[in-house]
Amino acid sequence: MRITTAIACPNIAFIKYWGNRDDLLRLPSNGSISMNLDGLYTQTHVIFDPSLASDELILDGASTQGPALRRVSTFLDLVRERAGLRLHARVESSNNFPMGAGIASSASAFAALALAASTAAGLELNEKDLSRLARRGSGSACRSIPGGFVEWQAGQDDETSFAFSIAPPEHWSLADCIAIVSQEHKPTGSALGQALAYTSLLQAPRLADAPRRLEICRRAILDRDFSAFAEVVELDSNLMHAVMMTSNPPLFYWQPATLQVIQAVIQWRQEGQPLCYTIDAGPNVHVLCLELYARQVKESLEQLPGVEKVLIAMPGGSARLL
Ligand code: DP6
Repeated sequence: MRITTAIACPNIAFIKYWGNRDDLLRLPSNGSISMNLDGLYTQTHVIFDPSLASDELILDGASTQGPALRRVSTFLDLVRERAGLRLHARVESSNNFPMGAGIASSASAFAALALAASTAAGLELNEKDLSRLARRGSGSACRSIPGGFVEWQAGQDDETSFAFSIAPPEHWSLADCIAIVSQEHKPTGSALGQALAYTSLLQAPRLADAPRRLEICRRAILDRDFSAFAEVVELDSNLMHAVMMTSNPPLFYWQPATLQVIQAVIQWRQEGQPLCYTIDAGPNVHVLCLELYARQVKESLEQLPGVEKVLIAMPGGSARLL
């Protein structure tokens, strides 16, 4: 049996996925748009091994049981079913960035796992089918299969819900300056949070307007129109967090330092700097700007109290085998 290794970048959503129409198939309530983050990655080795009595998971060097192993095993069942395989697998995965703090480690994790496991099982899936498979592990993972700027069309069913590239990484030199305010694991993972989306009164109007925001964002990326992009990205992030904060029970992913960064970004923009913020299901703030300004933005962010460090990521490529 051969070890197969794949790597995938996480992605940052500009138009967010929050809420499923079908939790089991992870069919999202709305389409989303994201950018892969170059330089950050999950690397995953998979081997299907006849000597194993059960699946094994090693995360960042530590043998892991419980819910994380069950989620991986359930995902491997999909691969086994498609490949007609009955063997258990050993999965070894490591990230070069902090887990569980709003850098969507589940996206790169399940994208890398989908590619490594399907290849190890002898399946040769095309990009669309890999994206569909990754989606079953974690919704946002389907967007880490194609490269660059990516759209996940919500679709009607398992067949039609997948992600594709709308522009390659070199299309626009956008930088994501990630202000890390906490590296702790978030208290409510996104899978649990997603399930609460419909308990918010604001989810329905958020969904009703999603096609308009998707269109504006797609256009702004294709036209490299930063000011149109900034406006829709902040609106979309604020809408998602408004849904989170008004869910039952309410979810507050922000910390005091999160709001300090938001306020600084708004002030710097008023002073003439082209930049905007977006926040996933965690306290860290992704500050987006053109590459030209990234170093300066990083230095300014590092001066803010509560910012532990700042990572810079440019548009990244597709998931790939090593
Ligand atoms: C806030 O893809 O992590 O990052 O499908 O339950 O694993 P599961 O959810 P996940 O949710 C991502 C939520 C988000 C927004 C986004 O990336 O679109």
